[in-house]
Amino acid sequence: MGGDLRAQPVDVLDAADAAAELAALAAEIAAHDRAYYQDDRPAISDGDYDGLRRRNEAIEARFPHLKRADSPSERVGAAPAAGFAKRRHRHAMLSLANAFGEDEVGEFLARIRRFLNLDAAEPVAILAEPKIDGLSLNLLYLDGRLVQAATRGDGTEGEDVTANVRTIADVPARLAADGPAAPPAVVEVRGEVYMERAAFAELNRRRGAAGEAVFANPRNAAAGSLRQLDVAVTEGRPLRFFGYSWGEVSAPFAATQGDARAVLAGWGFRLNEPARLCADQPALMAYYGEILGRRADLPFEIDGVVYKVDRLDWQARLGTVARAPRFALAHKFPAEQAETRLLAIDIQVGRTGALTPVAHLEPVTVGGVVVSRATLHNADEIARKDVRVGDHVRVQRAGDVIPQVLAALGDRRPAGGLEPFVFPEHCPCPLATPVLRPDGEAVHRCTGELACPYQQVEKLIHFVSRDAVDIDGLGAKQVQSFFETGMIQTPGDFFDLAARDGTDWPPIAEREGWGAKSADNLFKAIEARRSIPLERFIYALGIRQIGQATAKLLARTYATLADWQSAMTQAAAERRAAPEEQRKADAVGPAFAHLCGIDGVGFAVADDLVAFFGESHNLEVLAALEARVSVEPAEAPAADSALAGKTIVFTGALESMSRAEAKARAEALGAKVAGSVSARTDFVVVGTDAGSKATKARDLGLTVLSEEEWREMAG
Ligand code: IVH
Repeated sequence: MGGDLRAQPVDVLDAADAAAELAALAAEIAAHDRAYYQDDRPAISDGDYDGLRRRNEAIEARFPHLKRADSPSERVGAAPAAGFAKRRHRHAMLSLANAFGEDEVGEFLARIRRFLNLDAAEPVAILAEPKIDGLSLNLLYLDGRLVQAATRGDGTEGEDVTANVRTIADVPARLAADGPAAPPAVVEVRGEVYMERAAFAELNRRRGAAGEAVFANPRNAAAGSLRQLDVAVTEGRPLRFFGYSWGEVSAPFAATQGDARAVLAGWGFRLNEPARLCADQPALMAYYGEILGRRADLPFEIDGVVYKVDRLDWQARLGTVARAPRFALAHKFPAEQAETRLLAIDIQVGRTGALTPVAHLEPVTVGGVVVSRATLHNADEIARKDVRVGDHVRVQRAGDVIPQVLAALGDRRPAGGLEPFVFPEHCPCPLATPVLRPDGEAVHRCTGELACPYQQVEKLIHFVSRDAVDIDGLGAKQVQSFFETGMIQTPGDFFDLAARDGTDWPPIAEREGWGAKSADNLFKAIEARRSIPLERFIYALGIRQIGQATAKLLARTYATLADWQSAMTQAAAERRAAPEEQRKADAVGPAFAHLCGIDGVGFAVADDLVAFFGESHNLEVLAALEARVSVEPAEAPAADSALAGKTIVFTGALESMSRAEAKARAEALGAKVAGSVSARTDFVVVGTDAGSKATKARDLGLTVLSEEEWREMAG
């Protein structure tokens, strides 16, 4: 196929030919890369190889939307001097849901049973292992050879640290084939890079002696040692690696988590010990207690233990929710605490105008990290804890969460007493707009809305943040400085930055902290985001209550920006026409009712959404963005399924699976799951004891499926 296609000039290819040729080129170039880099045995001349790459690039330039996740133009090639090349993981790297107490562990087990619809008598074996505090790594092995190592990054895309990882003795360059299972042709092995406590102490001792900055904790030391552009630096650092999981595999290699561990060990990986297969919750709690007791004796730092459903077929059925698997749980150790003095209380303004009191503390080390700021949540919390400026306070830090002030130490308050904190009546911003505390809410809000410069900056920071538009090189500090000098006022302005630079203001490259290279990288990073997925776009707008999960639901439901926007505009008009106190979605209007009917949205969220669309300034922001970026439609996960793009409602009890599993399955097949039946519903699955929804479905003449029919459809 490749032969005749390549005879055609790129500009006469149609999309189907282009897609086919890109697939063939990806495979062919990958094979040549392996021959060249791994086997030292190139199969074609350098000139021919370059020709293949140029052809690939030319086709991608003409059909950018056909660019493959495994595109050769993304894979090999020297890392840019300014940093590491980005690598897309073949399977997303997830994080773990956390539990802090026994109740939550119980809920985790109960949820699994409910989801899988298990009999009370059916045992659910759980594999428990220590949770190492390091950084996770994805190792791609092709035919048993390590070809790529990448950090977790945002879970979808990490940094290529292959050269660095090759210096870690615990990471096999070739997988041993004599264990319980031979390595499959393709396997992504995952695990944690970390530094042992003793090695960390020694490294810091040497750095201190040499007058270099010391690392705050072993985790930071491991991360800093791995991400070195000069591989020789990494090589000199005592990094270690445990394998505990996997991503893509071309063939299954185990039936249980326990077996998989044995297979990983057989391939040459070290495992995080001590692990244990536990039959029930008491066994898990016993394990947790033991490991907590031995925490200080282990040679590495751990911040809890991880529980994983042992059966891999169950793991697959359980799937993922948000960014964590349902089959696993991190049971964290109690937070570390310390005492220090409260120097001042600052007020921070959030992007929706919420005012948060922040404790300004005398710096103190809590669990290996220096803390000088901590949240005080809100006015009620300050009053309840009776925390006053000048007090000695107890602070706590758990994992990555923001440190908190727990309590004031009353017996250490100065004899003369201290003044209680009075919440300010005006926003700390230059406009000093009045502060309001809405009835029934715990938070104070700035009433400046869009005029408040602090809110504006926070909105802009949110817009470019990692989970939103994700512009590399633009952090809070840079955004604030661009805002203050009038370069950026609304999100659309980011996309004019390069064109206006040096004309409307002195070049960014000449600003303090910037140079020609970093300014150029910034412009490139912005350019790379001219095309953004709809769900990120929605999330980036920073609409109240619209987090990543809801943004994704909206993107899936409305598919394109145009459809979403017209539906929201209509819903906003309906809401405006309805009496304020109307709380029944159906009575407001059809577009509003449809929005409320999305499982996971509901009335309050819908109200905030339409409020956003009712504000003319927001519509201007949207229009400006639309003129500058292209918003990619939400992808239907499985376009070939009969359920793709359809709306489905489940009602009544299902026998063979829980409602949650049915919902997850339907969504994986590209369907939207709604909570209520309307004329827009495509299928209604009726279980036993179905009530009014089944009747309504029949009245509307909708397609009603039995559980059996649904199972067939869902495969
Ligand atoms: S399993 C699909 N097992 O903890 C689940 N993770 O808080 C993938 N971690 O990103 C992770 N020890 O970096 C797993 N025994 C262990 C772990 C472990 C540490 C890290 C890992 C993960 C993070 C989530």
